[in-house]
Amino acid sequence: MKNQTEFKSKFGMLAAAVGSAVGLGNIWKFPYVVGTNGGGAFLIIYILCVLILGFPALITELSIGRMAKTNTLDACGVVSGKKCWNFIGAFGIISAFLIMSFYFVVAGWSLEYIYQTFATNSFDGIDTPALQELFNTFAYSSYRPYLWLFIFILTTSIIVSMGVQKGIEKASKVMMPMLFAIIAILAIYVAFLPRNVGGYRFYLDFDLSKITFPVILSALGQSFFSLSLGLGAIMVYGSYMKEGNVVGISFQIALLDTLIAVLAGFVIFPAVFAYGIAPGEGPSLAYIALPAVFSQMPGGLIVSLLFFALLAIGALTSTISLMEVLTSNICEKWHFSRQLANLIVTMLALISTVLCCYSMADGSKLIIFGRTLFTLFDDITSKFFLPLGGMAMAIFLGWGINKDKLRTSLAEFGMKPIFFNIYLIFVRFVIPITILMVMIQQK
Ligand code: PHE
Repeated sequence: MKNQTEFKSKFGMLAAAVGSAVGLGNIWKFPYVVGTNGGGAFLIIYILCVLILGFPALITELSIGRMAKTNTLDACGVVSGKKCWNFIGAFGIISAFLIMSFYFVVAGWSLEYIYQTFATNSFDGIDTPALQELFNTFAYSSYRPYLWLFIFILTTSIIVSMGVQKGIEKASKVMMPMLFAIIAILAIYVAFLPRNVGGYRFYLDFDLSKITFPVILSALGQSFFSLSLGLGAIMVYGSYMKEGNVVGISFQIALLDTLIAVLAGFVIFPAVFAYGIAPGEGPSLAYIALPAVFSQMPGGLIVSLLFFALLAIGALTSTISLMEVLTSNICEKWHFSRQLANLIVTMLALISTVLCCYSMADGSKLIIFGRTLFTLFDDITSKFFLPLGGMAMAIFLGWGINKDKLRTSLAEFGMKPIFFNIYLIFVRFVIPITILMVMIQQK
């Protein structure tokens, strides 16, 4: 029974965790956020967020999971012996549900564009206004986003219902190396395009004047979102870890996730500039500017397929971890079989995802605080819920449990004794105070 809920190998654990981290946040969102928020200056702030907050927060979340060896709703209570800390897990469940609701919609778009690559012979003869039209008609007034999100949810739930070793670990071990290979091939190909230099320059143009507090908050939110922190996705994988060094794995996750995000920009911007296309802002970068590139590029069909497959694979390993957080909790809390728990989560995901997708449709009445459910969920989770969740976990490990117990556990998980005090300063002070300061400044 116990073996069922543990990863078989260290590599499997790493692939699953990196799979959770690397996703739409890296490939779809990161490049345009950097491009519009100060380029190289934003990149430095982002990397600082990953090193100072993300990396210790990863250690924290993995350690809580590994110490507790149980579902995320009970984890903090089990580790501290005080049930009052269980609110952290409950808060994470809400975040996981909200993220899942909009994430599946964008994930589904990647399948549409794989289909469109074939249907239009890699967007042959379609100019930018027509591509904009194609995107709008598809996303806001057709039935097809619903079809794709349905397929995406189904694929995710089949993998999750197959279990930790046979489903999640196996799938991640195949998909993650594929993802790395695809992005490396694309980055190399793009590096040889003529007139691509403007793209690198635009991407990394160092503009300090754009760095304001809201921009720092978005770097912070983006780093937590990209590392899958603050909701229990990393915690649940930590609970399936039977061996390996927590500090080392956390560093590898942070490094690989950041590498893929930066590389995605190195693929997108030089390609867009090489063909004189305006790098649009927001979602249109991947779904409008890039297809315009693929329509002109030699080998555009293959490159387009590779790119949208990259998006789909990245998204799938992330939706797996989102669904696993919910499924494993229902499964263990109510003693349901994994399949039944997963069926319940799948039904709930279908309802909330369809609502999110509908809220974006032309003429939709589902607008809250002037925003579609889609942007509302995206904004509140990455800007508030995830950093607050990460902060609560840091406060929990820093102040909520016995220091000697923490020292012993972390030593067991591979933390060198000399680093313990430094780590303690981070979880007790640096993470909570920095996150709080950034949030207060936002108001
Ligand atoms: N980290 C994923 C991405 O960058 C998104 C995600 C967030 C996945 C939280 C799981 C949990 O796309």
